[in-house]
Amino acid sequence: MRDYLRLLKFARPYSGTFLLASLFMGLSAIFDGATLAMIVPLADKVLTNKKIIIPSKIPAFLSDFIDKINNMTPELLLKYMAISIVALFLIKGIVGFFQSYLMSKIGQAVVRDIRSKLYTQLQNLSLDYFTQKRGGELMSRITYDVRLVENAVSYGATDMVYQTLQVVVYTLLTFFIYFRMALVSFTLLPLISFPIIKVGRILRKLSKRSQEKMADINSLLYETIIGARIVKAFNMESYEIDKFNNANRDYYKISMKSIRRLLFLSPLTEFLGCVAGILVFVWGGKEVIAGKVSFGVFGLFLGALLSLIRPFKKLSQVNSLNQQAVAASLRIYEVLDTKPTVVEILRPDRLTDFRDSIVFEDVWFSYGSQPVLNGINLEVKKGTVLAIVGRSGTGKSTLVDLIPRFYDPTKGRILIDDIDIKDYSLKSLRQQIGIVTQETILFNDTIKANISYGYARASEKEIEEAAVQAHAFDFIKRLPDGYDTVIGDRGVKLSGGERQRLAIARALLKNPPILILDEATSQLDTEAERVVQEALDKLMEGRTVFVIAHRLSTVRLAHKIIILEKGVIAEEGTHMQLLAKDGLYKHLYQLQEF
Ligand SMILES: Nc1ncnc2c1ncn2[C@@H]1O[C@H](COP(=O)(O)OP(=O)(O)O)[C@@H](O)[C@H]1O
Ligand SMILES: [Mg+2]
Repeated sequence: MRDYLRLLKFARPYSGTFLLASLFMGLSAIFDGATLAMIVPLADKVLTNKKIIIPSKIPAFLSDFIDKINNMTPELLLKYMAISIVALFLIKGIVGFFQSYLMSKIGQAVVRDIRSKLYTQLQNLSLDYFTQKRGGELMSRITYDVRLVENAVSYGATDMVYQTLQVVVYTLLTFFIYFRMALVSFTLLPLISFPIIKVGRILRKLSKRSQEKMADINSLLYETIIGARIVKAFNMESYEIDKFNNANRDYYKISMKSIRRLLFLSPLTEFLGCVAGILVFVWGGKEVIAGKVSFGVFGLFLGALLSLIRPFKKLSQVNSLNQQAVAASLRIYEVLDTKPTVVEILRPDRLTDFRDSIVFEDVWFSYGSQPVLNGINLEVKKGTVLAIVGRSGTGKSTLVDLIPRFYDPTKGRILIDDIDIKDYSLKSLRQQIGIVTQETILFNDTIKANISYGYARASEKEIEEAAVQAHAFDFIKRLPDGYDTVIGDRGVKLSGGERQRLAIARALLKNPPILILDEATSQLDTEAERVVQEALDKLMEGRTVFVIAHRLSTVRLAHKIIILEKGVIAEEGTHMQLLAKDGLYKHLYQLQEF
């Protein structure tokens, strides 16, 4: 129940609209009853010219009204009826339009709100969230789960109110015209509703499983689309197809299971309803023959009773819609409720210009239980180059990731100009840092937009200048639309070296005082590497640089080199000092391991 209330919270801003829609639904339900009531004058007067007899006691104004009808000629009544039926349908149409329009509006608005909230939240969450969660699963939240909530809000809520109102109108109608018979009929009702409740429970369980399967399917899709190149390179197409088909088949099986239950429910309730209906029919028929009730009135009674079946059935479906939506909203809230791990303090400083030094003070870090950095102490003076060397997996990337606060140390501090970086605003901190990694992420946009990413104010001239400096001008010139060429998802239409040069141009344009280069050339062939290295040298000029490199030339020129081994600084010094030491550095150097 609490979960359901939280689901409704999404719709709270639209409660006014909902109230208005409910009003229209109330009118609709009343008109439905009125339309059905037309059967009375039609059967009793127009067709047979007898009298309308209602067995229950009714208020005076109604009995007067019925007396009036009883005294009319069939011809006149027929004329009146024709007019009122046309009017009724016209009004019902208009009311129905507004009711559906308003409810759809609420549904769409809710979906828009949730999507936007989710996306904003995803942007605000820290990086660790994305390494823990599967990408496809997150996509599933935004697409599939949001749609389930939409269904519950626009169709579910409509039915819940409208069908309930119909139940009320028809129930009142039956009690109103034939109290005794209505009482007996309604004791039969639990008989029909029992299987609905039972099957509803099973359906709920099945729907939960089908949603989990859907998330699996999404996840597989997402991974293989992103990793299409790897799948092909390893000839894993048929393996992936098998994996996908398994998930697909499971989803099919579960769906069919729910559909079977759902389809079985319908004839079952109809049959039970029919049995109950026949009992009433026989009894009522006898009363009509005995003249205690007119044929038309009994027809209305029976009609109202039968009209109750549909809203009840709909309401049971609404229940399953709601259950699905509640499950979906729980998963949506799971994302919305996650707190970012990297947060700003209440009143952060702004890091406006970097003046002196960056210091690591006994910095420890672990991603989970496995420790990655174990007490790093380090000082980098402004304008110097620090090279970080070490075997793969020793925490080099992790160490530099701590500087822009992609993650926070589990223990210890990092200081820029003697102030803990946690005291700076994230925005001002990251503004001072440029990053080029081995895996450059570009967006499916123009060259121009990719270079000026994060710096929308850049002029054409500045962009071109950055491109020239990054040695990117030559290849951009050759592209069909030059700077306006769209480069495909993640820049697939460019070579690795070209992508790196765009990343360098991007960093040049940003012009940050602090620069992080994480194996920026490691995935390139020798020729591409030479060009990119030249561009990097340009980029490094006059900046404070953290460089993780596998090339000796870069490392040799660094002001200081640290060798990471198992999360601690095993050795540090200049190239010459370290060679003289005859330790790990020399060993790695001889193996050409970086
Ligand atoms: N997002 C992550 N979640 C959990 N473990 C990680 C994550 N990223 C890296 N690691 C682990 O942390 C260790 C250090 O990784 P990394 O800093 O990337 O090493 P390097 O850059 O020196 O190759 C490795 O053992 C790696 O498996
Ligand atoms: Mg690395």
